[in-house]
This record gives sequence, C-alpha cells and structure tokens, in this order.
Amino acid sequence: MERLETTYMGLTLKNPIIVGSSPLTSSLDKLKKCEDAGAGAVVVKSIFEEQIESDAKRMIAGSDEFLVHADAQTFVEESSRNYYIDSYLSLVEQATDALDIPVIASVNCTSKGAWLDYVERFSEVGADALELNKFILPTDPSVEQGEILNSYYEVVKAARSICKFPLAIKMSSQFTSLANVVKTFDKMGVDAVVLFNRFYQPDINIKTLTIKPTINLSDPNDYYQSLQWTALLSAYLNCDICASTGIHSAETLVKMLLSGAKAVQVCSAVMKHGHAIIGTMLEGLLRWMDEHDANTFIDFRGKVAHKRMDDPSHWERAQYMKSLNVEF
Ligand SMILES: Cc1cc2nc3c(=O)[nH]c(=O)nc-3n(C[C@H](O)[C@H](O)[C@H](O)COP(=O)(O)O)c2cc1C
Repeated sequence: MERLETTYMGLTLKNPIIVGSSPLTSSLDKLKKCEDAGAGAVVVKSIFEEQIESDAKRMIAGSDEFLVHADAQTFVEESSRNYYIDSYLSLVEQATDALDIPVIASVNCTSKGAWLDYVERFSEVGADALELNKFILPTDPSVEQGEILNSYYEVVKAARSICKFPLAIKMSSQFTSLANVVKTFDKMGVDAVVLFNRFYQPDINIKTLTIKPTINLSDPNDYYQSLQWTALLSAYLNCDICASTGIHSAETLVKMLLSGAKAVQVCSAVMKHGHAIIGTMLEGLLRWMDEHDANTFIDFRGKVAHKRMDDPSHWERAQYMKSLNVEF
C-alpha cells in the first residue's frame, strides 16, 4: 500500500482516506476500528464550544446560591468547562498513544470563545493537527455580510496565532465569495481547508406539527459541489484541500484526487455500509492506478484541476447549456 502514501498538512498518511469527525470517531474503540479498517487518519468527534459553556450555565440557573456566591459561580464554570475539555483531551491522548495513524482533534466553534485557551493543550496531549469547524447560520437579517465574514476571519486569525501545529478549517460552501474566502484563509496560513461540511437540517413531522431532527447522511451523488470547488481552487492555493461530502466509492475518491485533493474524508459511506468500505475504496484506487500506469497517485493528482486544463471553462459553468437542454 506504499503507493497510496500522501502528505496532508505536512503529516504523512499511509493513504488518503480520513474518517471524518462523527459518531464513528467518538471513543477510543471506535477510533481503533477506523485504523483497523485501513483509514489513513482520523478526525476525532468535535468538542463543541457550547458544550464547554452550557453545563455550567445550567447548573448555575438551577440554584439561587450562585447569585450570592460569585466565587462558587466561577468555580462551577471552570470545573464544568474542565470536565468536558479534560475528557476530550484524555480521549485524544489515549488515541494518539494507541493508534499509529495521525489523530486530528476537532473543535466546533461559533466565536473566539474559551476554547482558544485550550488549543495548545491539544498539541501537548499529542494531537497531530487541529480541525476547526466554525459555522454560524446567518439568520439575523440586520447583520451584514461583511460582519459575518469578519467573524470567520477573526476566529481563524486567533486560532492560527496560537496553534503552532497543523491547522485545518472545515468550510461551508455557503459563502457569496467562496473562492476569496478560501484564499483569505490560505493567506492567513491555514494548512488545509476541508471542502465541505454537511449540515444538520431540521424537518417537520406533519403528524405532530413539531420539528423533527434528522441525521443527514449523504448519498453517493452528493459529491459534485466538493469536486467542482476542489478542482477550481486546488492549483491556486498554498494550503492543502481535503475533499469531503458524498465520497462513497473508489471512483469518487479517484475524481477528488484528480481534481487536486490531498486527502478525502468519509463518514456517511462508513455509517451506511460499514468499515469494510474503506478497504474496498483503497483496492479500487489501486486497481484504477494499475489501469492508468500510475505508480503513486502523485503521478495523477490534480491532473484535471482547473488551472491544468487546456479548456478550464467546464469547471466554471454553473448553468451549462448542453446539460440543461437534455431531452427527456
Ligand atoms: C451524525 C453525524 C455527526 C457529525 N458530527 C460532526 C462533528 O462533530 N464535527 C464535524 O466537524 N463534523 C461532523 N459531522 C460531519 C461529517 O464530519 C462530514 O463532514 C459530513 O457528514 C459529510 O461527509 P460524508 O458525506 O462522508 O458524510 C457529522 C456528520 C454526521 C452524519
């Protein structure tokens, strides 16, 4: 399998398949299972910024004592925060001890909050990198686009200044000026961008007229947006691209590498079909390489990226006449 070796954020991966942050990576046993199935790296299930703050607030809300004992309030806030952080750091530490593949810690944040105080500790417990998942749903009509963008830039800037080890930002595709935003993160010195995150989208239960939470797994056709943007951006960035969303087969994996991804993340495919799909995808990649006389995939990585095409216009078309005029 040495032919499948890749570098991602300066880390050496034995192959380009990373199991993404999800319930598949929430405990030591599960992380080990990903390694045993052949994954090249794992992203641990995220610790949420709200998780760090919320428990303390709930405890304080339930007791009048904290209104008169300000010290007690601080104590509860700190100890609760430490509870979540400590158990998360402990999981990362155990994983880095037990696994031979890189272990990437993950923080899901919305602001420049208390989580920034803990960034260095991720590295101290052995995390090979940090993946930052920042997303705010821009629901407030009075907040202008520039303000929202700035909040992303501030968080990434702050994280970059503290984080002395590899840093990735997991992106949403929902930016008006996506290429410019990615390039700005690149200029800020992130080591990788993960294109793209997939979001929880609530549904309605029409019997009870209530909001129904959904586990929003991707389907094999959900990869096009990630593929297009990987191809459009890969040759223009200094940082690496990790493709994510809808990668369910060796064919899609090959396409992502051809478009310039250094690695890919998989979640839904493993949740739907089991861990064996990782091996199946790697075998398929090797078979494809044999058929195309590629000794390593450095030979073909990025060959179909926008910048490398004689006619790159196909990657740029959002409404392509030929495909929209198909007869049914
Ligand atoms: C049940 C579930 C939980 C997830 N939890 C997280 C998380 O904690 N942090 C994160 O960055 N992404 C999380 N994700 C997003 C995945 O890491 C991944 O980006 C997304 O599912 C798209 O990849 P896929 O098409 O291979 O599933 C979660 C996804 C699912 C389905």
